[in-house]
Amino acid sequence: MKQNSEYFKDVNIFMSYKEHNNKENLFVDEGKSPIIKFENVYFSYPDTKLEVLKGVTFEIREANQLALVGYNGSGKSTIVKLILGLYKPDSGSVTINNIPAHLLSKDDIKNIFSVVFQDFAKYQISFENNIYLNNMDNSDKYDLNKIVDSLDLQYTLNKLPKKEKTILGKEFENGIDISLGEWQKLAFARSLASQSYVYILDEPTAALDPLAESELYEKFKMLMKNKSTLLISHRLGSTKMADTIIVLNDGKIIESGTHNELIDKNGLYCEMFEAQKKWYSKLPANDRGVEYESI
Ligand SMILES: Nc1ncnc2c1ncn2[C@@H]1O[C@H](COP(=O)(O)OP(=O)(O)OP(=O)(O)O)[C@@H](O)[C@H]1O
Ligand SMILES: [Mg+2]
Repeated sequence: MKQNSEYFKDVNIFMSYKEHNNKENLFVDEGKSPIIKFENVYFSYPDTKLEVLKGVTFEIREANQLALVGYNGSGKSTIVKLILGLYKPDSGSVTINNIPAHLLSKDDIKNIFSVVFQDFAKYQISFENNIYLNNMDNSDKYDLNKIVDSLDLQYTLNKLPKKEKTILGKEFENGIDISLGEWQKLAFARSLASQSYVYILDEPTAALDPLAESELYEKFKMLMKNKSTLLISHRLGSTKMADTIIVLNDGKIIESGTHNELIDKNGLYCEMFEAQKKWYSKLPANDRGVEYESI
């Protein structure tokens, strides 16, 4: 206990920091998804020398579906952090309806974006509260069954002893744990239930098999028709349906276009897509054998 209590010093110091909440709300809500622009963005993380983004330029227009693909460490999640205004570019600009992203207040960001990260949280609260968490005040507005149906979570819900009131996870007595793939779908459901204009999905579905992931993204696209989506995935069958696909390599955009345009180009995207094609054969998972295991 003595050893562990030492850590409370850090917690207390952290809690004593003043919250930076001095930004004005600058975003004018026009009832539609804003235009997000990257213009010649260069960026290195504070106190590091490595240039992570090297002259990145692209745009997400109103109700646009954009996919970001590229190898590990190519800078995809960094782009998300810059869009959310968590960092400021070293040069160039990241703007949302012409306002620099880092100047937007927390309320603005919360109003515009709904994000599911790679390392999303597993909240040890009830199934329904996991879905409504972002927007508790308006929870009566949503039809839980509709969200559950649209993400094929019905089977998961039916298994739970107290249905949507069941506490999830093992932290509390009577808590029931669900599989990683089910947690991931729940994170999706939470994102669906929050009223936002831009949905950012940074690879939250790695625990799903490639076919299930692409089906989930397809459904998400249909449900999000009038919203913008930024989709990040290593599985190109999932990002195929995006309006624009951007291929990032070592902090630079090396290709961009629709799926068909990029296939015709016969570059890195085409090479990656050809290599993954076998994942999307309609065979049951077991029959995909060694190839499936190699994912
Ligand atoms: N907080 C940080 N501080 C310093 N360097 C970082 C930080 N986060 C990421 N990096 C570095 O920035 C580069 C790009 O990282 P990023 O997370 O954007 O890659 P990614 O394309 O999302 O990769 P992945 O496919 O693995 O998720 C990497 O070289 C990484 O080591
Ligand atoms: Mg990432």
